[in-house]
Amino acid sequence: MKRSLSGIKPTGEAPHIGNYLGMIQPAIALQSEYDAFYFVADYHALTTERDADLMRRSTYTTTATFLAFGLDPERAAFFRQSDIPEVTELTWLLSCVTTMGQLERAHAYKAAKDRGEAGVISHGVFCYPVLMAADILIYDSNVVPVGKDQVQHIEICRDMAQRFNHLFGETFVLPEPLVDERVMTIPGIDGRKMSKSYGNDISVVLPPKKLRKRIMQIVTDSTPLEDPKDPDNCNVFALYKHFADAEQQAELAAKYRGGNFGYGHAKQALFEVVDAHIAPYRERYDVLRADEDYLEDVLRAGAAKVRSKAQEVLDRARHGVGFPRRFTP
Ligand code: TRP
Repeated sequence: MKRSLSGIKPTGEAPHIGNYLGMIQPAIALQSEYDAFYFVADYHALTTERDADLMRRSTYTTTATFLAFGLDPERAAFFRQSDIPEVTELTWLLSCVTTMGQLERAHAYKAAKDRGEAGVISHGVFCYPVLMAADILIYDSNVVPVGKDQVQHIEICRDMAQRFNHLFGETFVLPEPLVDERVMTIPGIDGRKMSKSYGNDISVVLPPKKLRKRIMQIVTDSTPLEDPKDPDNCNVFALYKHFADAEQQAELAAKYRGGNFGYGHAKQALFEVVDAHIAPYRERYDVLRADEDYLEDVLRAGAAKVRSKAQEVLDRARHGVGFPRRFTP
């Protein structure tokens, strides 16, 4: 069976709708066809997170979200990245075949540099793509379901794997990114890509009142209520498309174009479809989130399931570079 692998950073209180549509849902959908390995990327989160308690809470919240939305822990492995310390060792081996130039071309670093922050970002942020490559390569992963923004990281990962294989002999499997073309970029409440770091996200497990309040904050233009509106140029409609069927979409689009239909009405329609979609999962989420012992059990069982694979691949890499295979001194 081919392996599907992906990671999600535990940031903020809970995953958002962008994470859900772009990664969580597609990743879970692959669990029947693939050997699925998914993890909470806490090593990656540490590049920016300074609140240890939030790191802990967010790890459980993310785990409960995956389980609530259908991840089957009997079938797939769901684990904490930092429970597999072999990943950090492989990160070093890969670091030694990675050039500064490769990392300087990574989008996240370039953006930091453009903001004048190149000198103050941590080394962790700079070498983020190396850690991510280790995550992927250490499990002989075949496909990596991710949002579009992560494709560059997977290309960098492939370059590193090829370079390592060329220098030290066939060691790593080359992974393919798997991007859900229907989803692409999910806009946040201000129209930019939905992202925790922009503060424009809508959490996927909000109780109805808070969900409604958040949706009401979506930025729209100032077209008067009476005037016709363009659904294809509206943040509310852009989100609506992901939760409504074709008929509902056509209906709402007609109301936009017909005039006498305000953005408040559109937001109410969006709230209703999102809430209807999420309600059953949210109920399960609340039960799961309340049981941290169970979530911890799931994470540990997941780590136990994947660790031997990580050790096997790391051993292969160690052998390749001329180190002995791992032993316990
Ligand atoms: N960088 C990813 C993100 O921010 C999370 C991640 C870490 C990841 N390691 C990974 C995704 C390995 C896929 C594979 O969304």
